[in-house]
Amino acid sequence: MPEFKRYLVTSALPYANGPVHIGHLAGVYVPSDIYTRYLRLRGKDVISVCGSDEHGVPVTLKAKKEGVSPQEVVDRYHNIIKKSFEEFGIAFDIYSRTSNKIHYETASDFFRKLYDKGEFIEKTAEQYYDTQENQFLADRYIKGTCPKCGFEEAYGDQCEKCGSALNPTDLINPRSTISGAELTLKKTKHWYLPLDKHEPFLKKWILEDHKEWKPNVYGQCKSWLDNGLQPRAVSRDLDWGVPVPVENAEGKVLYVWFDAPIGYISATKELTPDWEKYWKNKDTKLVHFIGKDNIVFHCIIFPAMLKAEGSYILPDNVPANAFLNLENDKISTSKNWAVWLHEYLEDFKGKQDVLRYVLTANAPETKDNDFTWKNFQARNNGELVAVLGNFINRTLVLTKKYYDKEIPSPGKISEADKEILNEILKSKKEIEENIENYKFREALKAYMSLARTGNKYLADEEPWKLAKTDPDRVKTIMYVAAQITAALAVFGEPFLPFTSKKLKKMINLPEIKWDDVNTEILKPGHKINEPQLLFEKIEDKEIEYQINKLLKTKEKNAKENIEHKPVKETISFDDFQKLDIRTATIIEAEKVPKTKKLLKLTLDTGIDKRTVVSGIAEYYKPEEIIGKQVQVLMNLAPRKLKGIESQGMILMAQDSDGKLYFMSPENKTGNGAEIS
Ligand code: MF3
Ligand code: ZN
Repeated sequence: MPEFKRYLVTSALPYANGPVHIGHLAGVYVPSDIYTRYLRLRGKDVISVCGSDEHGVPVTLKAKKEGVSPQEVVDRYHNIIKKSFEEFGIAFDIYSRTSNKIHYETASDFFRKLYDKGEFIEKTAEQYYDTQENQFLADRYIKGTCPKCGFEEAYGDQCEKCGSALNPTDLINPRSTISGAELTLKKTKHWYLPLDKHEPFLKKWILEDHKEWKPNVYGQCKSWLDNGLQPRAVSRDLDWGVPVPVENAEGKVLYVWFDAPIGYISATKELTPDWEKYWKNKDTKLVHFIGKDNIVFHCIIFPAMLKAEGSYILPDNVPANAFLNLENDKISTSKNWAVWLHEYLEDFKGKQDVLRYVLTANAPETKDNDFTWKNFQARNNGELVAVLGNFINRTLVLTKKYYDKEIPSPGKISEADKEILNEILKSKKEIEENIENYKFREALKAYMSLARTGNKYLADEEPWKLAKTDPDRVKTIMYVAAQITAALAVFGEPFLPFTSKKLKKMINLPEIKWDDVNTEILKPGHKINEPQLLFEKIEDKEIEYQINKLLKTKEKNAKENIEHKPVKETISFDDFQKLDIRTATIIEAEKVPKTKKLLKLTLDTGIDKRTVVSGIAEYYKPEEIIGKQVQVLMNLAPRKLKGIESQGMILMAQDSDGKLYFMSPENKTGNGAEIS
């Protein structure tokens, strides 16, 4: 490993506005935990710090919604999160929180130092103000129509429909989400960090000196830097947060993205009086584990802050992950579309490692990935039980049966046996290289491949068949299998800490360090303890229970997700009668090339077969809607879409997310039946 003397590992501070879910775990906490446990096992000086991010708009939004104080909200979730991390075996050296006194002091001092050094620009600019609530609105409190795609529910900082980054002033018809009131622009003073001033430094530091960063991280940084950096406000008009520690700053607090990363420093301070050794010494390797939505804050803004302050080191790497989806839908705290860690721990007692395993095996390391309960079950039953568990169990049960739990002296060790034993060293190296390069999926694969080797070895050698005829050979086989088992116990610690611990106890293996692993871990004559099963099958009914839980959430969301717009102007019966609406069946469907949303449909309307172009491709696949009966507005003037003439329109219901639903008849009727 390179020249670093010690390691400082940080994991993104989760917002204390909700519990932790599998998306957080897969993106940040499981990888950071694997990395930290690995370094510890190698005897490195490493600390891992984390804590709750307790400021920011999401917390105040939640508090408002529930009619409680922000402190009440963060107390509740801080405790849930802290406890669930502990139970899950995420081994932080400290899990702190940003409402701590020590954090207020650290963050204020940091701001004050930059202020005194003249590192901020003080600027008065116009921002949206809610006259009914008498407050300036943070970006998330503002909704309006997206100027890019026309989505009416876009937020002041982002349109969730088309993904565009926005400024509140970009929105058409902006409104307050608190009061619904129209907004006025009002002048307000803030402190800005002139990122543009740090741009040359950042360009060199990232684009030249850190070419080794993950492509997604490097690419995002490059695009920010190529677009040119702008001064960024680091204060807000809010009453929840760290007060801006200068004169004439009433009602202003530090922007949450200014104070939260300083939380890493406060947490280290809280952990050890020696904190400066970790933060201010060039031979410390600082690694930030984060999700992809945090890249700019950890790669550009926080480093600019640290650089401006002057006495801190910068991160050596920021291995950000993409997102994990759940059953093909984006995980969402507000929509309750998630597998919550504290609920998992209740539902799957003692099975922490199963989730750790599945999340690592499916980690969204290079692109978004999907978690499904079926895959969870398949990986448990087909890999943990059938490969890893099976191999270890066979080895230990046979060692008990043949040798009264004593590792036998091997007979002649053949070339083939040697090769198997050498797999231990090969896997060791492969796991090391992958973990050190933040490729945890690959590392786990290398680990499992050692288990597969062992499993195959036993299946091929069939010691149970030779027990009577060739006892010497059986001793060799069981000796070899025991070494692989012991290696699996040691190498498993970063990935499957509970299993590793249990297994070490079973084979009576003292705590040994990573680097002490060789091809003879268990000497002949070594006594093991009573074998027990490491994993158990997960039954269909457990999975069905989880899937049902999600289905209920989906139904509930669909019902609630209707925003009631005022009823339109009255029309006459004659007006209504002008509409010719009929039943029709979709007989062909295909995507319109080079569009995201459009499907070209052929309808059997009873009187003709006609083409209708419909904007439903985001929600329906062509093959799944063929044969569906729909309602079609027949006498709508034809119009051309992407060169295709659309002859009519399918009637659909739309929820507030924009999702579309067919209005199919309860029972299929003939096509062409008039609807009135
Ligand atoms: N709370 C933020 C999130 O969940 C992460 C904060 S990371 C820190 O996206 F560096 F600011 F602490
Ligand atoms: Zn948009």
